[in-house]
Amino acid sequence: MTHDSLSIVIFGATGNQGGSVLRTLAAHKTAYRIRAVTRSLNQTKAAQLSMLMPHVDWVEADLDDKQSLLKAVTGADMVFGVTPSIQSAKLRKMNKSLDTEFEQGKRLVDACIEQKVGMLVFSTLPSPRKITRGQITGVNHYENKYRIQQYLLQCKPKIQVAAIQLAVYYQNNMQNARWNDQGNEVVFGYPGHPDRKLAYADVERDTGAMVKYIVDNRDSCNGKVFPVVSGYYSPSDIAVAFTSITGICARAIEVPLSFVKDPHYKAMFEFYAGFDMFAESALDTDQALTTPERFWRASGFSGPPKPMVYL
Ligand SMILES: NC(=O)c1ccc[n+]([C@@H]2O[C@H](COP(=O)([O-])OP(=O)(O)OC[C@H]3O[C@@H](n4cnc5c(N)ncnc54)[C@H](OP(=O)(O)O)[C@@H]3O)[C@@H](O)[C@H]2O)c1
Repeated sequence: MTHDSLSIVIFGATGNQGGSVLRTLAAHKTAYRIRAVTRSLNQTKAAQLSMLMPHVDWVEADLDDKQSLLKAVTGADMVFGVTPSIQSAKLRKMNKSLDTEFEQGKRLVDACIEQKVGMLVFSTLPSPRKITRGQITGVNHYENKYRIQQYLLQCKPKIQVAAIQLAVYYQNNMQNARWNDQGNEVVFGYPGHPDRKLAYADVERDTGAMVKYIVDNRDSCNGKVFPVVSGYYSPSDIAVAFTSITGICARAIEVPLSFVKDPHYKAMFEFYAGFDMFAESALDTDQALTTPERFWRASGFSGPPKPMVYL
């Protein structure tokens, strides 16, 4: 590690997005000094990662706790931030407002400014309300992330900033996979038409690649929003790619939207059915991201555990 190495703090380091950023940057030991953030150092994932990457420093912080954020980002050249989406029923149970995610994001932006962090890269999303010109207003987790992004961009005079917007994870398809009754075909369920093209990304590989690009091109990325989208594919295309890599029969089917209980997620699938989430963004990066074939090959996934009855 050199004295000139960049000091980078990674939020969500035990999760999909932050974990990808952590693995990508930690592979370059001499270039970056990494501080990974978790709410609890006692949890298994943080302990496992810390064993795998002994050169990474781990600290505890919570997006709901300003003091912990101020401490976590002290002395950082750069910070990667991501907020979790909390489903509406859980928010109600916790007695928290629908603005919770925005407030968490704003708290982190403010802490970075207060501690004079060099650059903050935040994971955000576009606004369905704006893209649909007010037709779809209920995708709360998207709107909160868009509000964080707007707040972040307006802070540009005080701190260098950039946002990344992850497309739909390929990984979601693994959670939505079932075997058919005969156990000879993998069925991918999707709450929408199986031939509808969606913007996809590989959260495990593409997030880290995009954030490394921003870290290494900090000045030219300042003030920009980067969609992380490897291409537009339908659930049926994903099933075809799965078959071409594994040799296992597969198909995508439409699951009724009524199966989606959370109103914010229901609104999100309505948005996906009629609109393009990146309609207003320029794809202004030449990063080579993951195709469905590359994803299935890298994932090693050959269907969910058997035996399983498809319901
Ligand atoms: N699924 C998709 O297709 C998709 C696509 C685009 C965007 N997204 C968005 O991606 C976000 C989730 O990212 P992910 O997939 O990386 O999540 P994830 O794998 O569920 O991980 C969540 C991370 O957030 C941390 N965290 C949770 N609450 C926290 C708090 N109060 N303070 C500090 N850290 C906290 C957790 O850390 P500890 O548990 O270690 O504290 C964990 O590392 C969601 O907001 C979602 O809307 C999802």
